[in-house]
Amino acid sequence: MRILFIADVVGRCGVELLKSRLPSLKRKYGADLTVVNGENSAPGNGITEYEANALFAAGADVISGGNHSFDRGDRELFENPYILRPLNWNTDSGHGSVVYDAVKFKVGIISVSGAVNMMAKCENPFILAKNEALRLKSEADTVIVDFHAEASSEKRAMGFWLDGIATAVIGTHTHCQTNDAEILENGTAFISDAGFCGSLKSVLGVRPNEVLDRFANGGKQKLVQEDIPPYLINGVVIECEKGKAVKIEVIREIFDR
Ligand SMILES: [Fe+2]
Repeated sequence: MRILFIADVVGRCGVELLKSRLPSLKRKYGADLTVVNGENSAPGNGITEYEANALFAAGADVISGGNHSFDRGDRELFENPYILRPLNWNTDSGHGSVVYDAVKFKVGIISVSGAVNMMAKCENPFILAKNEALRLKSEADTVIVDFHAEASSEKRAMGFWLDGIATAVIGTHTHCQTNDAEILENGTAFISDAGFCGSLKSVLGVRPNEVLDRFANGGKQKLVQEDIPPYLINGVVIECEKGKAVKIEVIREIFDR
């Protein structure tokens, strides 16, 4: 089984990019299941019904979340069990995990937030993620964890923590794809960060001008998501057998238009 994981989709540019490119990427990588991180997919941040519908129509089976999941205030959207928010948020709204039933196979997907240097307050990600992964394993062979976190140390630690329990621990949130994809000792695929989808010549998907003014001059201009080409799609493909990962392949596809 091959699971395609698409990293943080940034803004309208990222959504349009996936509308045009995800179907062919799914064929290219032979995806049996596609998970897309959509917490930044709305203009500004967060996710609305428009982006969720567009991502599902493009081929996402499950949309995972992060610190911006609730930014647009549309809690009803999160009644959809296939649109996740972090498991370790102390809220009754939405779901932190789901089991995707594709008849021939079942895959558990968990969205969980880091606790280090994250603005959104959350409960202990290690205890909750392990308990949830063990619970999902009673229903599904394969368990994929999207660990949405800032600190590479915390993400690396989560990889070891869930090694042999989860099929994959995939880091998101920094938007910088890391070069540390590997299969850990007990069969868990790991990468610190899968990257992002959007305009390549940007700062994490955001237009550079205002970001530079903030850093250099303490400027307070509103940040704007960049939308000029070339465009970048980041992610990973996990190949797994009986719940263990056998291969992790990193995706970095660049499109001129
Ligand atoms: Fe994030």
